[in-house]
Parts: sequence; structure tokens; C-alpha cells
Amino acid sequence: MTTISIINLKGGVGKTVSAINIAFVLSSLHGQRVLLIDNDKQANSTKFFSLHSDDDPSMAEILTVKGIDAADVIKHTQYSGLDVLPANMSLLRANKEALIDTTRPQQTRLKRALKSVTGRYDYCLIDNAPDVNISVINALMITDDVLVPVKIDKFAFDGLDVLAEQVEEVKEANERLNFAGCFITMFQRNNINTQGLELLRREAKYPVFQTVIRNTVKVGETTFSGEPLQEYSKNSTAARDYVSLVDEYLGLEKRGGAIG
Ligand SMILES: Nc1ncnc2c1ncn2[C@@H]1O[C@H](COP(=O)(O)OP(=O)(O)OP(=O)(O)O)[C@@H](O)[C@H]1O
Ligand SMILES: [Mg+2]
Repeated sequence: MTTISIINLKGGVGKTVSAINIAFVLSSLHGQRVLLIDNDKQANSTKFFSLHSDDDPSMAEILTVKGIDAADVIKHTQYSGLDVLPANMSLLRANKEALIDTTRPQQTRLKRALKSVTGRYDYCLIDNAPDVNISVINALMITDDVLVPVKIDKFAFDGLDVLAEQVEEVKEANERLNFAGCFITMFQRNNINTQGLELLRREAKYPVFQTVIRNTVKVGETTFSGEPLQEYSKNSTAARDYVSLVDEYLGLEKRGGAIG
């Protein structure tokens, strides 16, 4: 199982939309068995697939219940080959609880809980919260590739250094962890976007994907319809862009290195 963390300390940059659509492209177009982990108390990925519950076990229990098995938490979506490990607001409490409870390892609880299911999936996508908390550290501990969606604005690059530092730190405990690259989301053909993209590429501090995800009203519409872009409007710009992004990522994976 290859695990991809979608992460950015900034909110509203397209993490959830990217996690959902990358997961769906991998399962529907590439025939891969995919697990999407919702690692955010906002539970947007979970709600997208109408799998939200305040009562069922979720990421919160993965972090706090000793001996829990992810197989008892994971839910099927209506799409074959795509399952979700759901979240709900209890993740807020669970993060605090896991931080205080030092009686057993705090950073490898997700890893331990997933042990029984890793053979069932080819890819695991993690939709992370805009934060570095215990649950995000748990995600990084099982991650192979970090993908960072970036929305171009004045503050777009804030936090990237902190995130890269965090990745470096976790690398000491998880040597498979790789900062695969940033990609632009909600791209609009205007000066700010074009200049921002050039700046990101020129500085070349971090690998940047060639593919940009274009801005389209279709994305907002999918949050109401609950269908991934491929299902809702497969010829829309962003639908085609996510297909390209996955192709670029898979090519990268085959070559086995980060892009420059
Ligand atoms: N390509 C796009 N075109 C138009 N709107 C988009 C696009 N990608 C994302 N959005 C919109 O931007 C908003 C933020 O997206 P999303 O929820 O994926 O961000 P996020 O990084 O997960 O946010 P949070 O940090 O709160 O979890 C949403 O309203 C979403 O519909
Ligand atoms: Mg989100």
C-alpha cells in the first residue's frame, strides 16, 4: 500500500477536494483499491460521501481506543474500490486525549490500527486538517508521499517551510517519507496566479508539479451532488486536471524520485 498525505497548514486550499478526486481517479480510472482517510474533525471527506455519523467509530477511536482495528471503522462508499475511514468532531477531543496519554506510543496508533487492512488496498489517501497535531503526525508516520495543494494568494507560501521542517523531523522515524511536491489548485489565468506559479517554480525550494488544477464552479457543485468530478462532469477543466495530476504522480512514482 502506497500512502499519500494531502497536507497544507493553510485552510481552504483544496486539500479535501484534491484527496477525494485523486482517490477517485486512482480507483475508477486506474482500477486501484483505495482507502481515503479523513483526518480532519471538519469531516468534509466523510460528509462528501454521506458517511458521517456522530456515533460510529471513526478516526477519534483509532487514536484513543487501545487495540482498535481499522477494519471495524472503515466504511464502503457507493463506488467500488473506494473506502473511507471516517472522521467526526470527536477528533478534536481525541487529539487532546492522545497528547496526554503517554502510557503507549502516541505517534504510531494509526499505523498499528491499519495493520490488518494494508493488504486490502493499493493506495491510501489522507485528507489532513490544516494543522500539525497528533493525528497529522500519525498520518505522516505512515506516509510515503506528501502532496501539498497550494492556492495562490498573498499568503500562499506561508507555512510551507514549517511543513517541510515537520516532514524532515518525521523522516527520522519514517524513512519512506518523501516531500513529493506542491501543486497549484483553483488556478485562474490572471497576473497574480501566473506570477505566483512562476515564483513557486523559480524559487525551486520545493518540487512543483507541472499540472495545475484549474478553478471551476463545477467543484463547488460536486460538494452538493456528492459525486467526484469524474462522475459529475468528467470533461470539466478540474476533472481533466486531476486525471493529469495522477498521471504525473504515477510517472514520478515509477521513476522513484521527487520532481524538480
Ligand atoms: N479547482 C477548484 N475550483 C473551484 N473551487 C474549488 C476548487 N478546489 C477547491 N475549491 C473550493 O475551495 C473551497 C476549499 O476547498 P477544500 O475544502 O478542498 O479546502 P481544504 O484545504 O480542504 O480546506 P480545510 O483546510 O478547511 O480543510 C471549497 O469551497 C471548494 O469547493
Ligand atoms: Mg479539508
